[in-house]
Amino acid sequence: MPDLRVTAPAKINLHLEVLGLRPDGFHELAMVMQTLDLADTLVLAPTADAAISLRTDAEGLPTDADNLIVRAAEQLRQRVGLPELGAAIRLEKRIPIGAGLAGGSSDAAAALVGLNELWGCGLAAAELHAIAASLGSDVPYCLEGGTRLCFGRGEILEPLPGAASAEAPDLGVLLIKHPEVSVSTPWAYGRCRELRGDFYLESEADFAQRRDALRCGPLAAALRGEGPLPHLRNDLQVVVEPEVVSVREGLALLRRAEGALAVAMSGSGPSLFALFPEPAAAEAAHRQLAAELAAAGFEAWCCRCTGSGASLLPDAPQP
Ligand code: C5P
Repeated sequence: MPDLRVTAPAKINLHLEVLGLRPDGFHELAMVMQTLDLADTLVLAPTADAAISLRTDAEGLPTDADNLIVRAAEQLRQRVGLPELGAAIRLEKRIPIGAGLAGGSSDAAAALVGLNELWGCGLAAAELHAIAASLGSDVPYCLEGGTRLCFGRGEILEPLPGAASAEAPDLGVLLIKHPEVSVSTPWAYGRCRELRGDFYLESEADFAQRRDALRCGPLAAALRGEGPLPHLRNDLQVVVEPEVVSVREGLALLRRAEGALAVAMSGSGPSLFALFPEPAAAEAAHRQLAAELAAAGFEAWCCRCTGSGASLLPDAPQP
């Protein structure tokens, strides 16, 4: 059997609203997530030794059970009751680590999709979703990808109302990240609670009202192509921006990009992005800002929005 290849796309948050605190200690969120064509690749091969091994070209990533890929594989074989299943997994990392782009969550989603196929587990999407939710709040979204409203901890997914589900907005995205800076997600949420906890919403009725506002609001309309893009809200940006110099610098740079429709931080950062009316405009802005981005030490990617999450790739052509 040839190796199986799975793509694991990065996501950005087009909206991240912290509504309140949940009884389980997580935050109740209302988000819009979007996958990009920046992706890791997982290459999977079955083994007969009941071992799950992970190799990667990325420095500083754990390859033991601290890696969500290994945890996803262990959970899947436990769920199907076949502990003798083994796999050799290679991760080709392109999504920056600790960046707010869900790279680790997407890798875990790709492991679930790929190993479900490789091992012939035959689990349905809903069963993979349940395992994904136990691995992390963003992992279920990473299975689906595309433009999605995400509620609860982030694991309750809805399509954009009125949009064709396979269609991705034809926006250009200029994504930047400083390679030496990362932000801890628990730290960002903890700081948010310190600063804003007294003003968190508390009732389910208030949460429901905010979810409806997002479903019917100007961002959803703009993503359906029915109006201008509004200011993008990320409640963690307000928390992270004052503390992380490179986030302030990067936002200031992106705000000077010609033709940018909106500029924001993704997730808990420190990745930042600017949106443009079409991909060519993002490329032009990249050329315009290239020297300044390089001087400030940023890496940059011109991306497009995509309509799907972790998915099997066609077989590589034989030499
Ligand atoms: O679910 P995940 O492992 O990605 O979450 C990482 C951390 O982010 C959690 O331990 C928690 O501190 C914070 N978090 C949160 N509320 C969410 C999602 C994450 O407080 N909805």
